[in-house]
Amino acid sequence: MKHFLSLADLTPDSMMGLLDLAVRLKTAWKAGQGQPLLQGKTLGMVFQKPSLRTRVSFDMAMLHLGGHALYLSPNEIQLGQRESTADVARVLSRYVDAIMARVFSHNDILELARYASVPVINGLSDYSHPCQGLTDLLTVYEKRGKLAGLRLVYLGDGNNVANSLLFGGALTGMHIVVATPPGYEPTREVIEKAQALGRATGAKFTVTHDPREAARGADVLYTDVWASMGQEAERAARLAIFPPYQLNADLVKAAASDVLVLHCLPAHRGEEITDEVVDGPHSVVFDQAENRLHAQKAILVELLASQR
Ligand code: CP
Ligand code: NVA
Repeated sequence: MKHFLSLADLTPDSMMGLLDLAVRLKTAWKAGQGQPLLQGKTLGMVFQKPSLRTRVSFDMAMLHLGGHALYLSPNEIQLGQRESTADVARVLSRYVDAIMARVFSHNDILELARYASVPVINGLSDYSHPCQGLTDLLTVYEKRGKLAGLRLVYLGDGNNVANSLLFGGALTGMHIVVATPPGYEPTREVIEKAQALGRATGAKFTVTHDPREAARGADVLYTDVWASMGQEAERAARLAIFPPYQLNADLVKAAASDVLVLHCLPAHRGEEITDEVVDGPHSVVFDQAENRLHAQKAILVELLASQR
């Protein structure tokens, strides 16, 4: 693995390898036996958008592994404005051992990876959120002991998070059901890519506009904000369209009795998810948030430890 840009770049074996490595790193860390596997390694973190989880979990992951992370705010680098994205990649590569970037356009991630001589990690783009997708499947995997055959139902906007769940589900043989309002489905390109990846694992995909039918028998119910970062101008229009897709107690009742409720956070409580559900007995959203730390340690170790 040279970069970590999209789960669609992985194979079923490399995906399961990352999940198992994350479980091992988490178990060791919880037992007070974390190893400094990245002693002296450095990570540059480029942000074009705000963040709580991505920023703090990458920073702490590097610290726990004996390395160091450097936060670069949207104002500092001004990717593509103060200087070209290619030059940012070339220069940062001379200072740090890996680059993590959160960008608006996925093309900027591809451009960074093309010109960097060090590994690049996608910390969210408009196309995908692979660190989140790996974390989400880690969370389900540790709660259920398996992924293949589970029905994961994503409700709401067919966005970056939905795309990563489709790719991750494809690699692990899940049944991914995406319920969106008409016009907000994942693109045909994403669905076809997921179908191609899923041929080896028996994964299944359903795209529907019926949230209740989707939720029926779900092993996992998942939602995300209705307007992503960068879509603020569409927020009012989306608030009028998306309410039938709210993850609420009614939909939880339609799911399996032991359904897990996931949300990548930040949550807009009262919009895409109710307080009752996010704080309720099925919710694992804070375990999921914690797992960003463990999943990203696995990514960092996979990309950097062999270079020691
Ligand atoms: N889920 C997630 O990526 O959170 P942040 O935007 O806070 O990093
Ligand atoms: N879809 C959301 C995810 C935030 C973690 C966004 O892109 O803003």
